[in-house]
Amino acid sequence: QIIRLEDYRPSDFVIHRVDMTVRLFEGFAEVSSKLTMERRAGTSPSTALVLDGDELTLTALALNGTPLPAERYAAKADELRIEELPAAGPFELTVETRIAPEANTKLMGLYRSNGIWCTQCEAEGFRRITYYLDRPDVLAVFRVRVEADRRAAPILLSNGNPAEKGPLAEGRHFAVWDDPFPKPCYLFALVAGDLDALHDSFVTASGRDVALAIYTEKGLSPRASYAMDALKRSMTWDERRFGREYDLDVFSIVAISDFNMGAMENKGLNVFNHRYVLLDADTATDADYAGVETVIAHEYFHNWTGDRITCRDWFQLCLKEGLTVFRDQEFSADERSRPVKRIASVRTLKAHQYPEDQGPLQHSVRPHEYREINNFYTSTVYEKGAELVRMIETILGRTRFRAGMDLYFERHDGEAATVEDFIRCFEEAGEVDLSQFMLWYDQAGTPTLTVESAFDAKAATLTLTLRQELTRGAAKTGIEPMHIPIRFGLVGPNGEDMSFETVSGAKVEGDVIHLTRREERVVFGGLGNRPLLSILRDFSAPVTLISDETEQDRLALARLDPNPFNRWRALSDSVSAELKRATESASSGSASRINPDICEALVSVAADGRLDPELRAQTLSLPGESEIARLIGENIDPDAVHAARNDMLRAVGEAGREVFSALRAEMANDAPFSPAPESAGRRALANAALEYVAVGAKDPAIAARQFAAARNMTDRLSALSVLINHFPEAPASVDALALFYERHKGDTLVMDKWFAIQAAVPRPETLEAVRQLESHPLFTLTTPNRVRALVGTFASGNQVAFNRADGDGYRWVGRKLLEIDRLNPQVAARVATAFRSWRSFEAKRRAAAQATLEDLANQPNLSVDLRDIVDRSLR
Ligand code: ARG
Ligand code: ZN
Repeated sequence: QIIRLEDYRPSDFVIHRVDMTVRLFEGFAEVSSKLTMERRAGTSPSTALVLDGDELTLTALALNGTPLPAERYAAKADELRIEELPAAGPFELTVETRIAPEANTKLMGLYRSNGIWCTQCEAEGFRRITYYLDRPDVLAVFRVRVEADRRAAPILLSNGNPAEKGPLAEGRHFAVWDDPFPKPCYLFALVAGDLDALHDSFVTASGRDVALAIYTEKGLSPRASYAMDALKRSMTWDERRFGREYDLDVFSIVAISDFNMGAMENKGLNVFNHRYVLLDADTATDADYAGVETVIAHEYFHNWTGDRITCRDWFQLCLKEGLTVFRDQEFSADERSRPVKRIASVRTLKAHQYPEDQGPLQHSVRPHEYREINNFYTSTVYEKGAELVRMIETILGRTRFRAGMDLYFERHDGEAATVEDFIRCFEEAGEVDLSQFMLWYDQAGTPTLTVESAFDAKAATLTLTLRQELTRGAAKTGIEPMHIPIRFGLVGPNGEDMSFETVSGAKVEGDVIHLTRREERVVFGGLGNRPLLSILRDFSAPVTLISDETEQDRLALARLDPNPFNRWRALSDSVSAELKRATESASSGSASRINPDICEALVSVAADGRLDPELRAQTLSLPGESEIARLIGENIDPDAVHAARNDMLRAVGEAGREVFSALRAEMANDAPFSPAPESAGRRALANAALEYVAVGAKDPAIAARQFAAARNMTDRLSALSVLINHFPEAPASVDALALFYERHKGDTLVMDKWFAIQAAVPRPETLEAVRQLESHPLFTLTTPNRVRALVGTFASGNQVAFNRADGDGYRWVGRKLLEIDRLNPQVAARVATAFRSWRSFEAKRRAAAQATLEDLANQPNLSVDLRDIVDRSLR
């Protein structure tokens, strides 16, 4: 069944309040929910009420306290239909269901993870708890009473503020929670269990005292202290930057081991995958610290962009997700280094969103139709969605952007809004016309932006010809040119931004060119000498840039551009072009040498002590194999990509031998571990240098020594990955892997790293290794993190082995997908997206991938989730 945006209409009934009682027992739970509701004005009195359900069993049903006779309703597992409800005025419907959280392997609705009862309701999980109008535009206030055995669950939590609690007979107890803010049911949460807690508090700008708590499994709460710190910083930041204060007396986070996604913004009670909460120096990398900070902030920021203002329907998902990603990116940029954060976000966008937008799973930021909404929590909705918000900020400027946000909060607080509502706030506050800009939400695909520049010394002018092209993903109305904000600078010989005297052609405001037609020109006049064009600064629009700049221009920009993002961009484009060239010569079997100028440029960035170490580390980190493949685009031979990338690593390693060795010493740090960005940046640079040193010297000994001496997970895991990726058979590598296992085998989160790092080793033999790991006693298909670590990493993070020429990589993943799908369709569907670029490989692999996808498509019992991904991948 296909759901379409144009079919939206409001519900026939509205729900004002929900009084729920959930009684938890070993093996089952009883849910009683009293809905105070009424027929919407205008709904015909003969219209039946149809509540959503999913695998539910109805145990009782009453209207205004009186049981309903059987002929008045029909209860099915996925629907409860009730006839002849009052024509006008409020009524109370009491719906009782009995569910089995222990048997819920889909991890949607109410389930049990390591003994803890918890919920996940977004997008459509609430209907697995009780019959309801499970859609985001039905907003109600909730009062929730939870009852459980006191020993099994001393902690009982739900949304809102605590209201009452007390003992019950037979060793049981109860707690009542009141959430005064009307909300859709996807924001409902309930948690019960024997949990530890880290407590803290926060006073908001207007003086509200908020009790903060992070709940964990027993013994783990000390590992939540960085998350708590990130939470308090997020609360302060949202007050300062967006004027948004927290609004309840408590804010709680619960860390759960078995979780389908990263985390969930339930009102006042965020539930997290424990990997985004629990950290310490011995078990977490610097990347994990940054990830925790981001996700904690993201979920907290949803309190305003998601909870207080929610979405009218699921097509508007980007309204809360794109905006909240933008907000968490800005938070990280303010807390850490802005250029470093921007580079990282752009790399993520290109690594995940670009391939999605350029393959069969392509969809617009606001999709027009779906079969399974859970498959649209994508990089396009999240990351490209964030880029659209960023472009609005670029078009309006910071001040008018903030005014638009203020208007949005003021006008739509308490509502379920649409993208149009959001855009209208910026049009009004910014006094701009964003109707053309709206195309970004509805037209899928990555536009190409072509830039040609011509300097006329006699006339002292620089003429830019700008062209946009969108070849794929026509919206219903065809492809229209979009409004592309292009930030730019004209760089003079000493690395200063030159000023120009006149400008004509396309609209230019400050340092932004507004390209609104298919092709436009801009002429800058009064330029005494030829500037270097620094275009698309800070990646001001999510496009593919094709420019006529020369290799020489790029290398000069890499040294001179005052915009740090574009300095990185210039060198990284040179590196990419070189990797593309080297891959092409590797696949045609001809030997080639990596351009020494590019190696030199990388080495000199590494050695440049004026630059932030983390920025240097980012420059040194070559594009991944799938990114190189994407740049090549078709007929890809992943073995050639791998060979070319390795050649480059070696060439740079050899060219910079002394520099990299010296850097390792210079960046070393004897102080106790600190997760602060400056310390993390030094480790990042030292570890980038380690790989170049080891590969350049073709010697595992240096990495083995670092592994043995490491005093934190970042240094230990970096050394281990250099060992097993570059020297997989060396005794030092085999030993290190075994030592790592012995040291950390009691720690689930570290064991995920142990599985993942092995699944990522870029060689065909990794398939045999993962098949062994599948029977390891610690491997299980029921914990999503473990499945993602082994199967997910193999399929999405290992170009060489997954795309093995014999097709065995595809076939193995295909079989795993069927096993996972029987337990947890959402996880299966997510892992299956690894096939999204199958058409871009060379013929033999393409045929093998297609055969596996067709085999899957022919299976009779696929979940809707997996079938949707498989069918769309084949189309
Ligand atoms: N709203 C959550 C977040 O981004 C994610 C929920 C994901 N849900 C899903 N069905 N995939 O913070
Ligand atoms: Zn989110």
